[in-house]
Amino acid sequence: MLEKDWWKSATVYQIYPKSFCDSNDDGIGDMKGIINKLDYLKNLGVDVIWTTPMYVSPMMDNGYDIADYYNIDPIFGTMEDFHKLLDEIHKKDMKLIMDMVINHTSTEHFWFKEALKGPENRYHNYYIWKDGTPDQAPNNWASKFGGNAWQYVESLGKYYLHLFDVTQADLNWENSELRNDIYKMINFWLEKGVDGFRLDVINLISKNQNFPNDTYETAISDGRKFYTDGPKVHKFLKELTANTFGKYPGSLTVGEMSSTTIPHCIKYTNPNNKELSMVFNFHHLKVDYPNGEKWALGDMDFKSLKNIFFKWQVEMEIGNGWSAVFWCNHDQPRIVSRFGNEKYLKESGKMLGTAIHFLRGTPYIYQGEEIGMTNPHFETIDEYKDVESLNNYKLLLEKGKSIEEAIAILNQKSRDNSRTPIQWDKNKNAGFTSGTPWINVAKNYSTLNVENSLKDEDSVFYHYKKLIELRKDYKVISHGDFIPMYEENTQVFGYIRKFENEKLLVLNNFYEDEIEIEIPKEFIGKKILIKNYKDTLLESHILKLRAYESLAIYLK
Ligand code: GLC
Ligand code: CA
Repeated sequence: MLEKDWWKSATVYQIYPKSFCDSNDDGIGDMKGIINKLDYLKNLGVDVIWTTPMYVSPMMDNGYDIADYYNIDPIFGTMEDFHKLLDEIHKKDMKLIMDMVINHTSTEHFWFKEALKGPENRYHNYYIWKDGTPDQAPNNWASKFGGNAWQYVESLGKYYLHLFDVTQADLNWENSELRNDIYKMINFWLEKGVDGFRLDVINLISKNQNFPNDTYETAISDGRKFYTDGPKVHKFLKELTANTFGKYPGSLTVGEMSSTTIPHCIKYTNPNNKELSMVFNFHHLKVDYPNGEKWALGDMDFKSLKNIFFKWQVEMEIGNGWSAVFWCNHDQPRIVSRFGNEKYLKESGKMLGTAIHFLRGTPYIYQGEEIGMTNPHFETIDEYKDVESLNNYKLLLEKGKSIEEAIAILNQKSRDNSRTPIQWDKNKNAGFTSGTPWINVAKNYSTLNVENSLKDEDSVFYHYKKLIELRKDYKVISHGDFIPMYEENTQVFGYIRKFENEKLLVLNNFYEDEIEIEIPKEFIGKKILIKNYKDTLLESHILKLRAYESLAIYLK
């Protein structure tokens, strides 16, 4: 029998199938490619695999624009391949969670095509429509991918809402027929044996039905407060859970929560509420957005980073909520290039791993993070493929930035930074494909790759493998309380975890400069569970942390 919170000692690995491994040399990763690499993931030691959407899609947003929830897109393989993938994952004693995008569908979806036929059609109300004239949108909400969030349909004299791309129409959760069709579809996948879901932007499903204008006083007063953690979101989630995964004890659900708050995340995940197992939030990944603006160059604000972690860790624990903890995913630049240092790739890659994995929460690893993959440093706009990046590139030029400035911003902020193919070995295209990859491989693949990482005992890979193992062996990591340390320190992110008579002190120097710190005397001479320098000694309560040095000290 599965323990009811088995995921507290588990680690999840995220696969972006398009860029993982290509089995038929069309340049696009696929399910057979994933199957070929399952031994590698088993060796790493992860418990759960999350695959981003593989349903039928025109791929305007790489699958987050679903045209048919019941079928696999041919670029990834067939339904038979899917069954095989699920089976092989289960045989290896791992689990599979699927991505579920139910805030919106592609405008290619049958529902939307029917909806376009007019208000009498059964599916019209599956989407959000407002009357208007071509020159006057219903309100001033912004699309998260740039521009206004409403699109005019001339034949109907109405606008539909799209919080993302114009081809991603928001679903109308107020309509119970839509909700029931969603439940039916989720049950279709549960019946196949999938172990849970990652729910895309799930806290955006309930919109304020007055659709008010926003003020645009700050970078975030763009309408989001009227649909983020909206009026009926908890009601909808409880109903969704009760009708679908709630009937499958032990299934794992993780909600992607855009611009959310701690009180809401407690409600989403406190087991008494029967909503979700855990949630992602992104506040710690906005500490390099100057004044909240993503599309501008910015340095990490370390003080804010620490404050955000401390606040979320402490308050989620008090509310008995549970977080997914992570640095990387398919929407975020590579963490080594971002908050680490490519010159200290191993040291900073390992330090960042330790900093996240010993937090209270379930750690998520994004493909390639476990070998310390970096941003690709693309040189021209043709190398970029992502719809959000291309839209914002245009907007940056319109605002008067030069091409060089705009590329520099994309090099730091674009989602494509994490979408380059996995660097398997030093062969052509990093062993990802013998065809032409859909997006360029980062140039450092001849040295930085999986093959080399597996041969090198000191690689970031083995550090991550160890972090995963330690979580299984030590309750203080999986179940301990969280206590902030060194709150005023401008270089060190440190904390203590505590479980019964066990304690773990975690120390991470986020900078190249050395720094001296004092540790509580009870930790002197105790066991170092993991470190990123071979010769770290614990002989006194004064400790000198070198560039990106990190260690975790255990006592019982
Ligand atoms: C989520 C996904 C992102 C996608 C967006 C719209 O944020 O992670 O990749 O573009 O939702 O579905
Ligand atoms: Ca392929």
